[in-house]
Amino acid sequence: MSGELLVTNLRELATPQGVGALSGSDQRRVARVGDAEILIRDGHIAFAGARAERLARFGEMAAAPRLDGAGGTAVPGFVDAHTHLPWAGTREEEFLERLQGRSYQEIAAAGGGILSTVRATRAASPEAILAAMLRRLDWMLACGTTTAEAKSGYGLNLPDEMKQLEAIRAAAACHPIELVPTLLAAHETPPEHRADRGRWLDQICAEIVPAVAARGLARFCDVFCEAGVFSAAESRRVLTAGREHGLAPRLHADEFADSGGAELAAELGAMSADHLMAVSDAGIAALARSRVTALLLPGTSFFLRKHRYAPARRLVEAGVPVALATDCNPGSSHTESLPTIAQLAVIELGLTVEETLTAVTLNSAATLGLAAEIGTLETGKRADLVVLDAPNLLHLAYHYGVNPVRSVVKGGREVFRAGNLAVPPPRGDRA
Ligand code: NIG
Ligand code: FE
Repeated sequence: MSGELLVTNLRELATPQGVGALSGSDQRRVARVGDAEILIRDGHIAFAGARAERLARFGEMAAAPRLDGAGGTAVPGFVDAHTHLPWAGTREEEFLERLQGRSYQEIAAAGGGILSTVRATRAASPEAILAAMLRRLDWMLACGTTTAEAKSGYGLNLPDEMKQLEAIRAAAACHPIELVPTLLAAHETPPEHRADRGRWLDQICAEIVPAVAARGLARFCDVFCEAGVFSAAESRRVLTAGREHGLAPRLHADEFADSGGAELAAELGAMSADHLMAVSDAGIAALARSRVTALLLPGTSFFLRKHRYAPARRLVEAGVPVALATDCNPGSSHTESLPTIAQLAVIELGLTVEETLTAVTLNSAATLGLAAEIGTLETGKRADLVVLDAPNLLHLAYHYGVNPVRSVVKGGREVFRAGNLAVPPPRGDRA
């Protein structure tokens, strides 16, 4: 049959199950099947489960093209639902300053931080932004990401926000990773509007949101709701304008200080409330009541050396669906690797490895409105999967600091395989 692929020789297959975000004890209810296979037909999963069952139902299938899982573990393709991918420039000097004791907020207040990337991104050509983005997407794919959200937010005016969103569209057209774009004009107030933030918010609501929506350049609208950036009232205004133009809300909430961001996410029924390092008990209760997913970004706690992480266990126990993402950006979390985030989630957030798998697959897919199509290895879903070079799911966290990805399959096609030795060993050295 055309478009067929049989993934064989899997020591384990691990997947959450369902077509929506999982919460509470359901979040750790991951199916783990030994001696497994996955049959793909026309880009979708036709079977995922025990090899014996596959043989009983489909026969030998001697002629089917095969992908050798080599005794590894298959999991759904990772979904990175919070990234700032289309940026130019680098900020390693700031990183050094932080190592010497300056805080992220102090650097931002002195005109560095987000605004330094805004200067570099405004100055960069569309081609340069696309090229930088494609390199990051290659890293992400190698780390098992098959779908990613990507935000603007380093343009902070109409042409430069559009330039970033156009780069996302161009990258999506030529890279295997599926991209979902978000407008984040309300990431900061640009220098030219510092004297009058209200005018900047007027421009976002009256000009930027409608123009971006009219061109179909974004699916979501985001805001940095944070003390010293945008208040909950200002954030509500932007997100409401977004929604009026068909852009569903999601937001940076309570990252460094409790700013009522979680409560706002709950009030608006946002796709996700992101960060939540400083979320209050009332914020957790509001998220639980409204079933809004908490999208945690522990890479920022780690990279900014905050020694403080979002209260992941309390969120799970309150019944809030928890997802995880990289927050890939040049300032607060410079990584493309969801396996690294998964390792932090288990070791620092105290999530189980099963909860973590759900958080980087089904629950993150749900925040992008894609849980019916991706996020699990179940019949009918798109064939987006990762084969880990690991005998079982636990090794995703247990074998830390390495990239455990052996193969990545997107839409039924192998799009990445871990590299070979550059210089083959002399004959006879290896069996
Ligand atoms: O999610 N918090 C705001 N935005 C990013 C940081 C962006 C930057 O530092 O360039 C974040 O952490
Ligand atoms: Fe962010």
